[in-house]
Amino acid sequence: MPFLSIAIDGPAGAGKSTLARRLAQEIDFLYVDTGAIYRTVGLFVEKNRKNCVDSNEVIPLLDKIQMRIAYAEDGLQHMYLQGEDVTEEIRHNRVSQYASQVSAIPEVRSFLIDMQRTLAKEHNVVMDGRDIGTIVLPKADLKIFLTASAEKRAKRRYQELLQKGSNLPFEQILEELIRRDEADMNRSVAPLRQAEDAVLLDTSDLDLEESFLALYAIVKEKFDL
Ligand code: DC
Repeated sequence: MPFLSIAIDGPAGAGKSTLARRLAQEIDFLYVDTGAIYRTVGLFVEKNRKNCVDSNEVIPLLDKIQMRIAYAEDGLQHMYLQGEDVTEEIRHNRVSQYASQVSAIPEVRSFLIDMQRTLAKEHNVVMDGRDIGTIVLPKADLKIFLTASAEKRAKRRYQELLQKGSNLPFEQILEELIRRDEADMNRSVAPLRQAEDAVLLDTSDLDLEESFLALYAIVKEKFDL
């Protein structure tokens, strides 16, 4: 029996990972966070002190990267880089820009695409990212485009970072988020956009619980749960 896939795309800070992870737990699917994969490549470029916008510096590194994805008992996705667990480290704010910049390099995207497709071939997945419904899994059983206004997304990220002890100013977070949105939407390969057959879910006026219920309602209707 073929496996089922749910693709969730959208801009940074729309709540994709939190909602997708919870959805996956609820329906017993594997949650695949593709942003974490790009972040791991970004971190590797940073660690090697290469310029992440220069494809001539980044592409040769792809042969050297040893990246592994592993799932803990609780479904938490761990990323390993050269044997080291970098799950926490890739979340740092500085890695976000690296990830966004390396993700605009076509060779980086094609290097990572098989890894993502293989996971969907072997498991029922909820996969989140920027191009899942458009490029990685164009035949996904359900596609959702999750978004919210830039201010709301920046506010959520600000609060999230605050809880982790960071005191980055709100203005800086908003500015970086808008910059990343623009880069992700305007790159020539696999730009962030809503697939034609994706269901749009705007969570600007919803809290986390309401967002989850709205997402779950779409899934329930689609799969007749
Ligand atoms: O979802 P995230 O913030 O962890 O993603 C980090 C960056 O990786 C994001 O700015 C763009 C890139 N990315 C991508 O290009 N394609 C994906 N499927 C997932 C992430």
